[in-house]
Amino acid sequence: MKGAVVQVDQNRFLADLHMLRSFGASGVGKGVVRPAYSNADSAARVWLAERFFEAGLSVETDAMGNLFGLADGPSLLLGSHSDSQPEGGWLDGALGVIAALEVARASREAGGPAISVVSFQDEEGRFGVTTGSAIWSGHMGLAEADLLFDHHGVSLAEARRNVPVTGDVDPAQFTGFIEMHIEQGPVLDTAGEQIGVVSDIVGIRDMKITFEGQQNHAGTTPMHLRRDAFQAVSSFNFELNERLRNVVTPATVWTIGHMRLHPNASSIVPGKAVFSMQWRDGDAGRLGRMEGIIRVLAQEIADARGMVVSFGPLLGLEPVGMDAKLRKALENSATSIAPGRWRVMPSGALHDATNVSRLMPVAMLFVPSIGGISHAFEEDTDEVDLIAGLRVLAGAVEALES
Ligand code: GLV
Ligand code: MN
Ligand code: MN
Repeated sequence: MKGAVVQVDQNRFLADLHMLRSFGASGVGKGVVRPAYSNADSAARVWLAERFFEAGLSVETDAMGNLFGLADGPSLLLGSHSDSQPEGGWLDGALGVIAALEVARASREAGGPAISVVSFQDEEGRFGVTTGSAIWSGHMGLAEADLLFDHHGVSLAEARRNVPVTGDVDPAQFTGFIEMHIEQGPVLDTAGEQIGVVSDIVGIRDMKITFEGQQNHAGTTPMHLRRDAFQAVSSFNFELNERLRNVVTPATVWTIGHMRLHPNASSIVPGKAVFSMQWRDGDAGRLGRMEGIIRVLAQEIADARGMVVSFGPLLGLEPVGMDAKLRKALENSATSIAPGRWRVMPSGALHDATNVSRLMPVAMLFVPSIGGISHAFEEDTDEVDLIAGLRVLAGAVEALES
């Protein structure tokens, strides 16, 4: 029905958000440990599927494990992801899924617009970069992704073996996608604002780099004869910061977040180091220039030390802008719910919306992260801000239909 008032139930929304947190609750603060395909993730998805069903939506799970609750006919898709980082917060992704569920339920109760809901799988990149939505959108093929490994050597093909697949979900039924998320940075919290309407999402590149030298005795091998893989990574990291200086802007970021030394023992000069190299920027050209610097430097370091370097598959997503019409609906809704306390801002974090933008118009809204902390157990947001975000989302959905 056009013009229906979508009256969200904030208590039901908060109760469901806390319930979702109970799957993989870490015991430290409000943190969760719910990586893609873990027992906690699978149990959370069973619970979510029941909630989608109760809300009158038909439940579908595709081969990757992306979970949909579908309204009949054409609908607007809302959602995010419910997997977490190995040590994650309770809101990253979960907020967007539960807000979507609440708006879908409330809209149905009010006879409002048809809303479908999604929880994408492996947004947090246990295997790739936003893997579930990358596959659903056609950015990456499932057969190709099946060959990706996590940091423990488990392949995606193996991890997704027990997914309760029901079938594919055709993107053509959706008129657009809106993802609500926590900001995961300090901007809104520092400014004392409640809502961010996203203008665009940065691009990313991510690959594994391996240095191989010679494993040897840590007591007897003279320093000048060592081919120590950790020393190579250490020089690489130091030199990279120097070489990137003239290429990057204050918004560019790069991270070595994971490293595995072999054999990882106090009395052995490490013969092998495998590490993750990730970089992000809003300019695809700059991402490419950084890649060149990274590859050349790693090769130089290996050559100078008589070592071998190899590079894993380069994964990535391009920077994307948000759809003007959906964004305007969010901006208007933010003006009425949080007057003077919202802004337009870019996203430095990656989101499923990037992949979905290949298929349909997309937009995003943020609520503040206390202290700008995320991807950590301490991640949190004030309840009043969570509720303001939910109301902005519901207001935008209502306006898009009228
Ligand atoms: C998503 O979690 C990201 O790493 O930006
Ligand atoms: Mn997220
Ligand atoms: Mn995340």
